[in-house]
Amino acid sequence: MRTPIVHPGADKLRYEIRQIVGMGKRIEALGMPVVWENIGDPVAKGEQVPEWIREIVGRVAAENSSFAYSPTKGLEETREYIARERNLEGGIQITAEDILFFNGLGDAITNIYSNLNPGARIIGPNPAYSTHSSAEAAHSNAVHLSYSLDPNRNWEPDLEELEAKIVVHPEIAGILIINPDNPTGFVYPQETISAIVTLAKKYNLMVISDEIYSNLAYEGSSMRKLASVIGDVPGIAMRGISKEFPWPGARCGWIEFYNRDKDANFDKYAHSIIEAKMLEVCSTTLPQKVLPVVMQDPRYYPYLAERTKRYAAKSELACKILGEIPQIQIHNAHGAFYMTAVFQLGALTSQQSLPTSPEAFEIIEPKLTEAKLDQRFVYYLLASKGICLVPLSSGFNSDLYGFRFTLLEPDEQKFESIVRTIAEAVKEYLAS
Ligand SMILES: Cc1ncc(COP(=O)(O)O)c(C=O)c1O
Repeated sequence: MRTPIVHPGADKLRYEIRQIVGMGKRIEALGMPVVWENIGDPVAKGEQVPEWIREIVGRVAAENSSFAYSPTKGLEETREYIARERNLEGGIQITAEDILFFNGLGDAITNIYSNLNPGARIIGPNPAYSTHSSAEAAHSNAVHLSYSLDPNRNWEPDLEELEAKIVVHPEIAGILIINPDNPTGFVYPQETISAIVTLAKKYNLMVISDEIYSNLAYEGSSMRKLASVIGDVPGIAMRGISKEFPWPGARCGWIEFYNRDKDANFDKYAHSIIEAKMLEVCSTTLPQKVLPVVMQDPRYYPYLAERTKRYAAKSELACKILGEIPQIQIHNAHGAFYMTAVFQLGALTSQQSLPTSPEAFEIIEPKLTEAKLDQRFVYYLLASKGICLVPLSSGFNSDLYGFRFTLLEPDEQKFESIVRTIAEAVKEYLAS
């Protein structure tokens, strides 16, 4: 081409969570069944969407108007419903005008970073959910800036480090939190979110809170949404139905702007995101029509409570099994459906291995020399036991070594057997 056409930030876009699938598919083609613990789609993992939700979707899909475009910001009655529910919870009060729908939260994530001044940075948690960290890095064509979630403190964020980085990097314009967090299952205590909001106020920043798992916080987790503590600081909360209903294929998520009237710069930024959406016409209509019907059904919240109870029980079991390994650090999840196990510093070497068939080894071998130490473990586990995890370092932009697995397997016995197999493999690998 006479002009370079690749965006300078293009090599920052990586999604290891899916990239490992290529390797897993080749292992599967050898005849070895693979347990896909790498992806957070409850439906793909075998969870059944309740019959009554499917009936509602069927009924609404049969309406002619479900085939139409919707208004750019989203259906008026749906945004009004969301604003009403938000306001009933207390905290900041919003209107339907503060809500903007997207084709899934992934689309919202792309938009909030791509419409940001390239010189303005958003600092996010580490381990990082790669859709945020990659999109932020690509937008600024620089390494994503992050603050640590500390595995020695039950995954609490290191607020001193966060403040120190805000001071050193005047280009930081906002702080991202993911609450409940992917990949750790951490739920931010109210004091911690308040402290983050206080930092934002002190340094004149905005706060972005990805709350896609907020209705999947476990009982007793004391989950608080950003709206309850944001005060007069500019903020964006991000929500969606992919994990809740669960309906990831609906591609339906939304953002809520808080305090547009408090900061002209923030207001203009919000406006630019809405204008960009205008160019795309609108987001998916059917799930927006379905949303208030499902969420107002008396069966909805009991259904979520029953699901999160199961995740909490699986989390405790996994914590018990993997926590017995001295070189592994692990904490119970308090929300969402992921857990992260961290290898103690120095536990992994580039000499360790697991037995594999020669054919499976041939698939992982070319990747081993370049692989980080936790990636090596994950590749061996895949080739040896057919379990596909996500390494913490490459999958979640982390300086820790570890792996993420999910709490989605609906068959509890199978779940236990998967976790036990991982635990035995860790022991075998470390002793090799
Ligand atoms: C924290 C977080 N935010 C956003 C998303 C994207 O969700 P959606 O399916 O709405 O694009 C995910 C998906 O895994 C996620 O874990």
